[in-house]
Amino acid sequence: MFMDRIRISGGIPLRGTVRTQGAKNAALPAMASCLLLKGQRMTLSNVPRLQDVETMEELLRSHGVSVVREADRYVFDVPETVSWEASESLVRKMRASSLVLGPLLARCGRVVLPLPGGCSIGSRPIDLHLKGLVQMGAKVEIRNGFVYAQADRLIGRRIYLDFPSVGATENLMMAAVLARGETILENSAREPEIENLAGVLRSMGVEIDTEGTGCVRIRGIGEAGGCDKRVIPDRIEACTYILAGVMTGGEVTVEDVVPEHIDSLLAKLEEAGVSFSVRREPRLAGCEESTVTVYPARRLKPLSIKTMPFPGFPTDLQPQMVAALTLSNGVSLVEESVFQARFLYAAELNRMGADIGIKGDTAVIRGVESLDGAAVRATDLRAGAALILAGLAAKGESCVEQAEHVLRGYESIDSKLNSLGARVVFESVSEK
Ligand code: EPZ
Repeated sequence: MFMDRIRISGGIPLRGTVRTQGAKNAALPAMASCLLLKGQRMTLSNVPRLQDVETMEELLRSHGVSVVREADRYVFDVPETVSWEASESLVRKMRASSLVLGPLLARCGRVVLPLPGGCSIGSRPIDLHLKGLVQMGAKVEIRNGFVYAQADRLIGRRIYLDFPSVGATENLMMAAVLARGETILENSAREPEIENLAGVLRSMGVEIDTEGTGCVRIRGIGEAGGCDKRVIPDRIEACTYILAGVMTGGEVTVEDVVPEHIDSLLAKLEEAGVSFSVRREPRLAGCEESTVTVYPARRLKPLSIKTMPFPGFPTDLQPQMVAALTLSNGVSLVEESVFQARFLYAAELNRMGADIGIKGDTAVIRGVESLDGAAVRATDLRAGAALILAGLAAKGESCVEQAEHVLRGYESIDSKLNSLGARVVFESVSEK
């Protein structure tokens, strides 16, 4: 059994430019949506090279889809018939595998899906996904840890989501594509990744009305057509590198950022006294892209933050922001309102000299002058990212163990950080 770890020599101000990868959380639902096609081809560009993307590739192949990667482009050739039974090992490995539920039920009329397990940030049920499908006429049964869903043809309905769940919105959008009539999802998620999926479904020939309003209107069609789409940049990865610049007192430019997708971070950085610039730059073929540069600043002013569904402060950036606030010149409060338990990493940061107390769903962070390098353990993807940021800012050497979590969401993070002047080494060691 191999365990990955990252060794970091801290205290080096990062300088230079990195380019944002394609968004993991946009690529995964977009890939799953190819199951709506019958005997058609879908291509996706700007897909990041990540373990979670490889898991989704494996999952699609297990359903009979031919998946070929050419550079950053994927080609999915979907046969006339696909398997409607999802692989237990793959669904258990990655929660996002449950995104095959909506498309498979819509095109095959039946699905057997292992219930995704919980993870270190909470129980993460899929009750809202299933409730919506039942409203659309599906028969759903849960037995021995499996979901058995059946529907001759789904019926378009007005569905109110009790919580703007990203995954439930995505599964129900895909299910609605082949449903009879119009489906209206109210109180739906408004993350940019939802817009990206809507764009993919539109290019399959579906009429969708969203505009990030928290209400998605979809008119079902008989058959979805092949398409070719580009994945949006990864806003969470971009923000992680921006915070790496902030925490090391360096000057870091991140290319291919959509400013509107990271408004909440930019607003909080401004509040904390960090100076940055956002520039729109012309690119080939008349298109434009934006870059963000963050400049060396004095110690951050303390902040009060509550994570919320988009456009609120993203829960996926909460650990990284807490890491940054450990070095602020005051007491900050960060409330986690999306997941039940997303502060496991705080104890690891405290091993590096941070002063974080957890009171219920709020972290109380008393800023310290500096952090000390230490051996720490990643408990999930974003916690791992937060520990890497802390290691970059700390004095001396750090080692982040179970770094395989980080590989799930950050493409080439070691070479990207080293291109900014960091001294980071990725090691795979056999566990004793
Ligand atoms: C997506 O997960 C992201 N993953 C997560 O990113 C992200 O943290 C999350 O959205 C919130 O923004 C992908 O897109 C692949 P939710 P998802 O359904 O869809 C509860 C990362 O680090 N809930 O919006 O699973 C749930 O338990 C990952 O990239 C129900 O109770 O998130 C959670 O507390 C981590 N019942 C909250 O809602 C349901 O049926 C938000 O979940 C569904 C969700």
